[in-house]
Parts: sequence; C-alpha cells; structure tokens
Amino acid sequence: MRSMNLVAGLTALLSCLATAAPAPGTQQLEARAGSLTQVQDFGKNPSGIKMFTYVPAKLAAKPPVVLVLHACAWTASSFFGSTKYGQLAEQHGFVLVFGQTPKDGDCWDVSSDQTLTHDGGGDSTGLANMVKYALQKYNGDASRVYVTGESSGAMMTQVMAAVYPDMFAAASEFSGEPAGCFRTGSVRGWNSQCAGGQVNKSPADWAAQVHKMYPGYTGTYPKMLVWHGDVDKTLNINSFNESIKEWSGIFGYSGTAKQTMENTPGARLTKYIYGDRLQGIWGHGFGHVVPTNETEALTWFGILCGS
Ligand SMILES: *[C@@H]1O[C@H](CO)[C@@H](O)[C@H](O)[C@H]1NC(C)=O
Ligand SMILES: *[C@@H]1O[C@H](CO)[C@@H](O)[C@H](O)[C@H]1NC(C)=O
Repeated sequence: MRSMNLVAGLTALLSCLATAAPAPGTQQLEARAGSLTQVQDFGKNPSGIKMFTYVPAKLAAKPPVVLVLHACAWTASSFFGSTKYGQLAEQHGFVLVFGQTPKDGDCWDVSSDQTLTHDGGGDSTGLANMVKYALQKYNGDASRVYVTGESSGAMMTQVMAAVYPDMFAAASEFSGEPAGCFRTGSVRGWNSQCAGGQVNKSPADWAAQVHKMYPGYTGTYPKMLVWHGDVDKTLNINSFNESIKEWSGIFGYSGTAKQTMENTPGARLTKYIYGDRLQGIWGHGFGHVVPTNETEALTWFGILCGS
C-alpha cells in the first residue's frame, strides 16, 4: 500500500515536472493574458454549444488540455476573465478549452438522457468533441486531459467525469452536484429535489448510475476533487456528501476521510482525503459558490507541482 502511494506520488511529480515551465520574466507575469478565440468546426455538436480556446505563446511539447466550464448566467469569456487560467497557461504551456452553452445565460444540460450517456448526443458529446479537436490540433497529451467548472459547470464537470471517464485523468468541481443527481429526462431541466438536498443514495447506487452512463466501460475513472460551501442555499450542502458517496462508490473507498486538514488549502477550508483518487474541500461560511482556486485545481491535475 505504502509503495503504491509512493509510486503514485512519483508519477504525479514526474508528470508535473514534465510540463514545460518557460521561466517567465516579471513583465510576462504581469502581462494580462489575452482573450479567447472561438473555434467554429470542432466536430459533432448536437446541442449547438460553443468552443473557445486559449493557447499560450509557448506551448509545452505534448501539452495537457484543460476544459473549463462556466456557471449559469456566465459566458466563456466572462469566466475566463475572472480567473487566472490564462496567465497560468502562459507559465505552464497547457491548452485551455472553454465551453459555452448555446444561449447566453443557459445552464449546462446535466439532466437529459442524451447528456448523461456516452456519445448520447447532448452537451457532453459536444464537449468531448472539443477536447478531441484540441488534442489533435495541438498534439496534446491524451493522458493529461482535465476538467473543472463552477456551479452548473461543476455539475457538468462531474457529468463529464462519469460519461467520458476514458478522456479525463482528473476533475475539480466547485459547488456542483453528483453526476446524475439532476436527471429529469428533459434538456436543461432543473431538478429541485437534487438542488434541495433530498436525493440520498448509497455509494453502490450512485456508482451503478454512473456505470450506466458508459455501459461496458471497465477502465479507471478520473480523480475527483469536490468543493462545497457549508452555507450554500442554491445547491444544498448535502451535495457535498452525496458527491463523496458517488465517487467513493466508484473508487471502492469507505467514504470516511482518512485524513482531515484544517485551513487547507486556505483559510476557512477543510480538506478531507478519502483516498488517492478522491478529496473534498469543505468551505466554512461559503455560500454558492466556493470560488475557483486555479492553483489548487492545477496541482490536483499534476500540472503544477504541489508540496
Ligand atoms: C457531510 O460530510 C461532512 C464531512 O465529512 C460531515 O462533517 C457531515 O457530518 C456530513 N453531513 C451529513 C449530513 O452526513
Ligand atoms: C488556493 O490554493 C493554493 C494552493 O494550491 C493556496 O496556497 C491558496 O491559499 C488557496 N487560495 C485560497 C483563497 O484559499
């Protein structure tokens, strides 16, 4: 067990060191990262979502690809502008793909059977095709593809991890819901039971629901980092525990934290470690949402070298 952890730790360290970090001058660090570029024809896009990219001046050889998903009422560029992902891409040479819902203000579809099925024809299919396009266009490293998002984008992050487990190595979701919790059967439906914290399932039932999204898949699922605020009134605080149960079911973990770290990675945050592939960060006094922490997400992905 201990040597397994050591091997996993060394692998993560080597992969984060492998990402080119073109030592930036102060000027470059201070320069505001530019803007997103829209890509029109990225492949099959059944629900009409939009693709934007940010490609740094110095791309790493075989760059990692990070998919970033906005909240309802946000756009790709408003979310890009509010995060440090552009600057961090300049420093570490990875490719950013920002998805955007069909109409401004729309939430991601995390409720229809199309989106909750591998290549089922919903938003998840379009997002997967954006990633495939970026991997091909920039000679990306298919083993280093990651997904993150806030709120509706966090729900979609969990959906992408469940529906395309073969595509993503890790995910970091900020204030979302377990994959499948929002299912209504309709496109872009609002599931008030899930949002209200009334959906309770066992780890085994959650895992069965996830497995149904990609029947026959027997490979590994992406590492999952779940963030949630303990005074969230939009997506009930129960979401945190249900998400932990879902991914504990997938990874075969007990769901009880093996380690608890107060004020980690920052003030009013408690980190719970459930296993090598699952962590949760509980925000004390945070409502909706716990703000994106780009460096913690990129460290979880292995793009930045953590402590
Ligand atoms: C949710 O998880 C947290 C952290 O493990 C725990 O302190 C809390 O009691 C759990 N809440 C419920 C309702 O189970
Ligand atoms: C974000 O995470 C980094 C570690 O990756 C930590 O140093 C920083 O304090 C965190 N920021 C906040 C606001 O919690």
